Amino acid sequence: MNDHLTVVTHPLVQHKLTIMREKETSTAKFRQLLREISQLLAYEVTRGLAMTTKSIETPMGPMDAPVIEGRKLALVSILRAGNGLLDGMLELIPSARVGFVGLYRDEETLQPVQYYFKVPGELGDRLTIAVDPMLATGNSSVAAIDLLKGAGARNIRFLCLLAAPEGVARMQEAHPDVPIVTAALDERLNENGYIVPGLGDAGDRMFGTQ
Ligand code: URA
Repeated sequence: MNDHLTVVTHPLVQHKLTIMREKETSTAKFRQLLREISQLLAYEVTRGLAMTTKSIETPMGPMDAPVIEGRKLALVSILRAGNGLLDGMLELIPSARVGFVGLYRDEETLQPVQYYFKVPGELGDRLTIAVDPMLATGNSSVAAIDLLKGAGARNIRFLCLLAAPEGVARMQEAHPDVPIVTAALDERLNENGYIVPGLGDAGDRMFGTQ
């Protein structure tokens, strides 16, 4: 995958996203839709994976049949909202390995600080898909990708539900080798770093916190 930004315009994705954006949508419905959309986005983000063949026997005879080449891919959730994308993706890619990156924002420097990092081994041999529903300022996404590269990842893709132009620009500048797949590119960030029109705080909406 070489295109830097892919916006998935499929009608099912767009329709589900609209329901998620609505402020009256319940936590349960939001979570269910996120799970469904995550599978549709997972389908897109895994497009173009390297393939090989294996010899199999169908009831009718032998065939060389296509299978995905290489090591099991790695899904890396950027905590905490990234976890909302994991379950659906794992249903589609059950053999994927899973990692977690935890970052918080230092109130004085406003820079992301790592508080948790656990990723699968041999990351350099795996397609690594970092997931976070909201690509807003891009600060935590860029920091997470820095950490993944530091751990050896060389083939990274980033999957989100919504992106702001500011976040996409920041990612493109810092990590031009990392393609981004999203369901929508929204207008802008507001003064608090929230995506407008967006859907609010993704973590709060999926976990029912405030
Ligand atoms: N994180 C969110 O949850 N929502 C935004 O709009 C931006 C960052």
